[in-house]
Amino acid sequence: MIDLIQKLPKAELHLHIEGSLEPELMFRLARKNNVEIPYDSVEDVRAAYNFNNLQSFLDIYYAGANVLLTQDDFYDLTWEYILKCVEDNVIHTEIFFDPQTHTERGVAFEAIITGIKEALADAKAKYGITSCIIMCFLRHLSQEAAFETLEQAMAFKEDIIGVGLDSSELGNPPSKFKEVFQKAKEAGFKLVAHAGEEADFSYIYEALDLLNINRIDHGVQSIKSPELMQRLKDEQMPLTVCPNSNIELRVFDNYKEHNIKALLDYGLNISVNSDDPAYFKGYVNQNFINLYENLPITEEDIITLVKNSFRSAFISDELKEDYLAKVDAVLQ
Ligand code: ADE
Ligand code: ZN
Repeated sequence: MIDLIQKLPKAELHLHIEGSLEPELMFRLARKNNVEIPYDSVEDVRAAYNFNNLQSFLDIYYAGANVLLTQDDFYDLTWEYILKCVEDNVIHTEIFFDPQTHTERGVAFEAIITGIKEALADAKAKYGITSCIIMCFLRHLSQEAAFETLEQAMAFKEDIIGVGLDSSELGNPPSKFKEVFQKAKEAGFKLVAHAGEEADFSYIYEALDLLNINRIDHGVQSIKSPELMQRLKDEQMPLTVCPNSNIELRVFDNYKEHNIKALLDYGLNISVNSDDPAYFKGYVNQNFINLYENLPITEEDIITLVKNSFRSAFISDELKEDYLAKVDAVLQ
């Protein structure tokens, strides 16, 4: 099975580029940019990655992102992630970035997007990997700040396929961002939102009904509402599930408790993603391997999860068919 996981081409739909910052690169950039980090060694950094909930992770994640200052830094960050895609046979990826984490520190929006974009162009040229960029609003900040960010993004509309919503979920419901999502939709952006990661399923209803999203990020709390489950199934609304993340952030006590198999068996459109792989002990393949080693996941489940990743991607129907044919070719 591990061999099959490795061989299958995959798409990744839920990956925060700042969450792919490995400690080695964090150290290199800290030294280059003269940014203080509260660690003495790479081992020290890894030892600090011991989280009890989403917020305890976010505090460390935002501190780590302070080392990212220049366009080249964003290029290097993205390129290192692309090399992991090559290793894991990820042939299409949709990358989140959090502009506000950087613009608040004086980094230019243009430097961020250009660094990411150039690395993705090189990924296409060198490895044939296709990609899109999704800009996330930080939900712990105001809707007004999100409007300003959307305004800045308009100059780079060609480079950004969609907008999303991330950061501290509890107390920051989707309804807080209703108007800015409406404006983003009118501007032609695809819409996604983290919902039902830690907060209850009412956040998923809000994301669907008030934000009109095209995909739900996480969404694992939907299992507590039979009515919502039925709706998600009927609409085949994609849920980008991130198993390692849910374990590391204690959404579930351990892997055996994870509900991904139940969501899948019910008939929901589920994909497997790495979220913040440098912080959560592994990239996409490691997420699949952990599922396989801890849950009664079958070969058919793995194929469904992989095919769902392509079906739910923001790409043309033609490219979807191409990619699904590539999956089938491996299965032959
Ligand atoms: N930002 C990066 N990872 C996140 C997650 N899992 N939930 C919310 N915000 C995030
Ligand atoms: Zn996420």
